[in-house]
Amino acid sequence: MCGIIGIVGNRPVAGRLIEGLKRLEYRGYDSAGIAVIQEIDGQSTLVRRRAKGKIVKLEERVKLEPVDGFLGIAHTRWATHGAVTKTNAHPHFAGQVGVVHNGIIENFTELRGALKDKRSFHTQTDTEVVAHMIDEAMRTGLSGQDAFAQTLKQLRGAFALGVVIDGVAGQIFAARKGPPLAIGIGDGENYIGSDAIALSSLSKQIIYLEEGDWAVLTDDNIQIYDAKDTEVKRDITHITGSMAAAEKGNYRHFMRKEIYEQPETTAHTLTHYIDAFNHKVKTEDALKLKGLDFKTVERVSFIACGTAAYAAMVAKYWFEQLAHLPTDMDVASEFRYRRPALTDNTLAMAVSQSGETADTLAALRYCKDHGLQTGVLVNVLSSTMAREADYVLPINAGPEIGVASTKAFTAQLTALLSLAITAGVQRGHIDTQAEKRLVDSLTHIPRHINETLKLDGQIENLAHMLSKAKSVFYLGRGVHYPLALEGALKLKEISYIHAEGYAAGELKHGPIALIEEGTPVIVIAPSDELFEKTISNLQEVATRGAKVVLITDNKGAKHAHNMVPHIIVCPDVSPVTAPIIYAITIQLLSYHTAVHLGTDVDQPRNLAKSVTVE
Ligand code: F6R
Repeated sequence: MCGIIGIVGNRPVAGRLIEGLKRLEYRGYDSAGIAVIQEIDGQSTLVRRRAKGKIVKLEERVKLEPVDGFLGIAHTRWATHGAVTKTNAHPHFAGQVGVVHNGIIENFTELRGALKDKRSFHTQTDTEVVAHMIDEAMRTGLSGQDAFAQTLKQLRGAFALGVVIDGVAGQIFAARKGPPLAIGIGDGENYIGSDAIALSSLSKQIIYLEEGDWAVLTDDNIQIYDAKDTEVKRDITHITGSMAAAEKGNYRHFMRKEIYEQPETTAHTLTHYIDAFNHKVKTEDALKLKGLDFKTVERVSFIACGTAAYAAMVAKYWFEQLAHLPTDMDVASEFRYRRPALTDNTLAMAVSQSGETADTLAALRYCKDHGLQTGVLVNVLSSTMAREADYVLPINAGPEIGVASTKAFTAQLTALLSLAITAGVQRGHIDTQAEKRLVDSLTHIPRHINETLKLDGQIENLAHMLSKAKSVFYLGRGVHYPLALEGALKLKEISYIHAEGYAAGELKHGPIALIEEGTPVIVIAPSDELFEKTISNLQEVATRGAKVVLITDNKGAKHAHNMVPHIIVCPDVSPVTAPIIYAITIQLLSYHTAVHLGTDVDQPRNLAKSVTVE
């Protein structure tokens, strides 16, 4: 969602705040702003610059009308309350107080109502009231710190806040309830940021605020308080590894770079889950998951959103087929509210790239509160979910910056397939021979992805055809049904073309009415046991004028060559790994369609990388 950064320092901060915002732009990018405490005519004054649009617009504005100082906060917005306008862009001011905020203040209408006789509001946001409340509390004689602490107690919802107060010498106030907030430790400076990526050029020593924490930062001191206002110490995390993954390098887009990283990222995932040398999966000890034994698990309940949910949906097939383990998949935003009948010995497993998605986190906490054992399959190991789940299963995909998930999806699938095999071995449904065969197929994933990437040119040509479509349909059966859903999601989110995914057999129960002359239908069908059935569905749409693109293997292509105008021939792979390999083709198809249409591939409209509101 929105991104926050702040610096309390010993040298000018404006340029560095804007640099930090650029790293956070993936979280939201409809408007941005910066506020600093600047010396004007010998007087310290709280000043701001804001702009509608991306960070470059703010940068241009600051160039035209410079502001600077040794203390400041900045924000990139993904609008929740109030239209995308410069007025609604953060920081919001009231009197001496400037506020940046990520998340939602749920009781803002009530809070605004309580101040309506004393204050006039200038924005439609839920944030502005926070600035007024702090300012109002200071007018009653409270110090900045006490006014901030008192205000926090009255806020309901999920939020991360950064606050500066003119006249309160050299302090930034920060709070976290819900969305993450990190503190960076510097040399004669300290920082706040929505994540370690924002702070990566400033600090390698990070403190993650815990739920309910708030903090006061000066240039040489950091005081942290918990929700009961007791001063606490929180661990310092030393951020290692290069942030190069957050740079585009020679690629035109992060999404393209991340698609091409997949041979390497899936290899990293595999290193964690399998012992390729001995042709075995790693068991709970090697995975450092003391206590997670699939023998004693009676049900797996996956919870996730968006692309991660489609990865979990593929995993449902794998866990049931390979481990004979009853498995559910719930979209996280629905999970709590349907009041699921939870049973003992259920493993609740969240799947999340960011580890911060509000709905998934809430569902995970719900399961924990109901006494289930919880796990999270996650990319960001410093995330809230990783800190709260009983078992943390990393996917090791490296930072994913493109808003449309690609390398995290294949890494999730790779890890989930490895886990399904582990479960099958532990539960006695996979013997040593079968384990060897399955593990060997896993080891081929990076090479097969590499081969699939060579289809780039052919897929680019097909994308020209797709870019002219009004509507596109994706069909698949079995594990390829969730892949059809993912293909449609990927296309709509970055090309803005209407797209739907269907179980191939379901089309004739209604959606086939939408097929007309020239409608593109992408059929995902390797030559497995369901191939012939899917081909029958393919013919049903072809005879109604659909322009069919078949994604299959050599055998499938031979069978269908005179039925369809376009065939994408993937390498011949094991049926079990096919969804991971075929995912590359649907990613490239959406990527090239979007590039052809000239959309903003890495930061598509209305979206944000990390969805920290419900
Ligand atoms: C789509 C996409 C989203 C995310 C979803 C969950 O390309 O990226 O659908 O998959 O918002 O995010 P995480 O995995 O961070 O919980």
